[in-house]
Amino acid sequence: MKETNVKKAEGKLGVLVVGLGAVSSTFMTGVLMVRKGLAKPIGSMTQYDKIRVGRGADKKYLKYNEIVSIANLNDIVFGAWDVYPQNAFESAINCEVLKEKDILPVKDELEAIKPMKAAFDKNYAKRLEGDNVKQCANRWDMMEQIREDIRSFKAEKGVDRIVVLWAASTEVYVPVNEKVHYKLADLEAAMKADDKDNIAPSMCYAYAALKEGAPFIMGAPNTTVDIPAMWELAEQTKMPIAGKDFKTGQTLVKSGFAPIIGTRCLGLAGWFSTNILGNRDGLVLDEPANFRTKEVSKLSTLESILVPEKQPDLYGHGNDIDDQYYHKVRINYYPPRNDNKEGWDNIDIFGWMGYPMQIKINFLCRDSILAAPLCLDLVLLSDLAARAGRYGTQRFLSFFLKSPMHDYTVNEVPVNHLFQQYVMLKNALREMGGYEADEEID
Ligand SMILES: NC(=O)c1ccc[n+]([C@@H]2O[C@H](COP(=O)([O-])OP(=O)(O)OC[C@H]3O[C@@H](n4cnc5c(N)ncnc54)[C@H](O)[C@@H]3O)[C@@H](O)[C@H]2O)c1
Repeated sequence: MKETNVKKAEGKLGVLVVGLGAVSSTFMTGVLMVRKGLAKPIGSMTQYDKIRVGRGADKKYLKYNEIVSIANLNDIVFGAWDVYPQNAFESAINCEVLKEKDILPVKDELEAIKPMKAAFDKNYAKRLEGDNVKQCANRWDMMEQIREDIRSFKAEKGVDRIVVLWAASTEVYVPVNEKVHYKLADLEAAMKADDKDNIAPSMCYAYAALKEGAPFIMGAPNTTVDIPAMWELAEQTKMPIAGKDFKTGQTLVKSGFAPIIGTRCLGLAGWFSTNILGNRDGLVLDEPANFRTKEVSKLSTLESILVPEKQPDLYGHGNDIDDQYYHKVRINYYPPRNDNKEGWDNIDIFGWMGYPMQIKINFLCRDSILAAPLCLDLVLLSDLAARAGRYGTQRFLSFFLKSPMHDYTVNEVPVNHLFQQYVMLKNALREMGGYEADEEID
């Protein structure tokens, strides 16, 4: 490894996860099992991927921790908040993602992860009934209580650094309100005034994390850190933020498949995506206001890859207002499938002289199995970014996210194309490792 100004990953890394449901318990169980040598972290870029550094005779392919200092899995200490009081072991058993044989060997460690009381407001997720919830005078107090939790966790566990990851339910859609969400001072005033409509509980977690010197990652599609006031706070506290929404099943396929259509200049008349899933995530998303947040996130992927206004012949027709292809995304709550989500994509394309063709993709996936390695990579790479002195929106993490944050106030366009995102990821690692960024194909 080259000498760089990136601080070494020394000491323990506290990983505080908001939500102790299917994704987080699968993530935690996996990390603990890998540590014991009883499972493999399949799907994790930080554990497997190799990047080329240097060119010509100097060319080498290195793992991430050979390029930069990445926290060792043995140094991770988990903590969590949840609305329900079940510990991580009970949660992993209840969620039925993993078989008991893959949970029992780390039972003791999982049982020790007991959720702290959640900063919660039932209006943001009506279908949740848990009572492991903080009593808060107002949103500012809610945030102060979370700060206190982070400080106590740090002191009790003796951790050196913290990363806060949101893997809790999707909140109802909070539209960006310029009067509240643009300036940090306005956001703070709204928290103090207990403006419950504009300040989601997730914003209190994010604010608290950044103030306590911890990067914040938004794994759901919530607006939380995707607002200028939070960008200002991240800049002030010099902390990285990343979001939003883990790119796992259908959107991963979409952002990898759409470039086939785009790079071959084939036409697209419509793309219909539907899913059935039966876990608690699916239950929350069955509520139209919560689904709206997800829909906004899922719809954004294609537009920036195919850019209908640049190619009207190919992508400019199909919907009601006839300015682009028809794009529809549906999620249906269907309990028998639990975490094993089934996604169908019907893609209506057209070719030479406009002749129509169809592509069907049927992905029988496992939601939390796909999300767990993303949690690990996002946590480790956000911690790396903080040690490298990178703050604000981490665009190089877009690879892992369905709806990458971008500065919409200056019409910045997000990069959704999976392979462009991968180049951004590789180049950020090269740069942090003291190598030259490049776009050479390998
Ligand atoms: N699994 C995937 O493929 C995937 C992909 C993208 C995004 N996500 C998102 O990840 C999140 C977690 O998914 P999951 O399947 O683990 O859901 P889950 O319902 O199993 O777990 C979420 C947990 O969050 C808790 N919670 C809700 N609000 C909270 C709050 N304010 N504070 C603390 N805890 C709170 C709930 O009680 C629940 O236990 C969801 O928002 C989901 O949309 C998942």
